[in-house]
Amino acid sequence: MPLHRLTQILMGVPNVEETAAFYADFGLLPCGDAVPQQPSPAIRELSTVDGGQQLRIVQTARRRLVELGVGADDPDDLDRVSASLARLDVAVHRTAGSITALDAGTMVLVRVEIAPRLQPAAPAAPQYNAPGIEARLGGRAPGVLRTDRVRPRKLGHVVLGSTDQESSQRFFQQGLGFKVSDTVKNLAAFMRCSSDHHNVLVQQAPVAFLHHTSWQVDDVDEIGRGATAMLEVDPERHTWGLGRHFIGSNFFWYLKDPAGTFSEYYSDLDCIVDDALWKPGVFEGMKSLYAWGPPPPPSFLAPEDLAALMTGAHAPSQ
Ligand SMILES: [Fe+2]
Repeated sequence: MPLHRLTQILMGVPNVEETAAFYADFGLLPCGDAVPQQPSPAIRELSTVDGGQQLRIVQTARRRLVELGVGADDPDDLDRVSASLARLDVAVHRTAGSITALDAGTMVLVRVEIAPRLQPAAPAAPQYNAPGIEARLGGRAPGVLRTDRVRPRKLGHVVLGSTDQESSQRFFQQGLGFKVSDTVKNLAAFMRCSSDHHNVLVQQAPVAFLHHTSWQVDDVDEIGRGATAMLEVDPERHTWGLGRHFIGSNFFWYLKDPAGTFSEYYSDLDCIVDDALWKPGVFEGMKSLYAWGPPPPPSFLAPEDLAALMTGAHAPSQ
């Protein structure tokens, strides 16, 4: 696969400082002072442990994903993606190190850029005992002993509402070269540009919007510790969790940021390294959403600000 990961996102929100503070609490590392930008007041930048600067937050009238970065290996990959997008009649802007193209269904500007592949700074070594597997002998579980802050390793995926799911899927799949891992009938496609089960999920929606971003942590203990710390500051942040998704299999816990976008801690996502060994499924109904955990709140399925986002949806601020 010429693509290999998500590099970074530019998230637009009306309340930059408040939202940046949320993601700092979430465990992302703020990168210095706000970067001045004309004519907007500032961009806030935050980093993950392994992925570096992966979240940039800028002011927009309504919350949305402004830009999505995807990593490619070399200029030949950019040529291939450029040609595929052109075949779909998508306008492409090319520079030496990147190409950008707009997906009309999600209103997201995708930047495919030459970027190094990710190597975890220190591989996680979860030690969970199980019948017949004594992975941890003579000691307490690391999950009960850890006292350090939870720090997400990388940006794993984004979930986007599209007013034209079919065309957005075509953009990512045929245009950019993402592969479809699983689909939900007539609603959504889980697509990957790496060995992660999904890096982008596009679902049909009445308006283009960012449903959630998802951030990898080492294991389920880090999900629990991270979410618990977030809720100690403000219980209203809780959205949905702890649970385990069916599609992708990952453990999850969702919180809501001050702009209204959900933010997910995840671990143990399915990994697809050999396409021949993975059979994409077509799913229907709630079973596809989660294997166990509390039922999702209605506001997760249809965010409370959807109607507001639809007002003037055709005139994004930038
Ligand atoms: Fe997710």
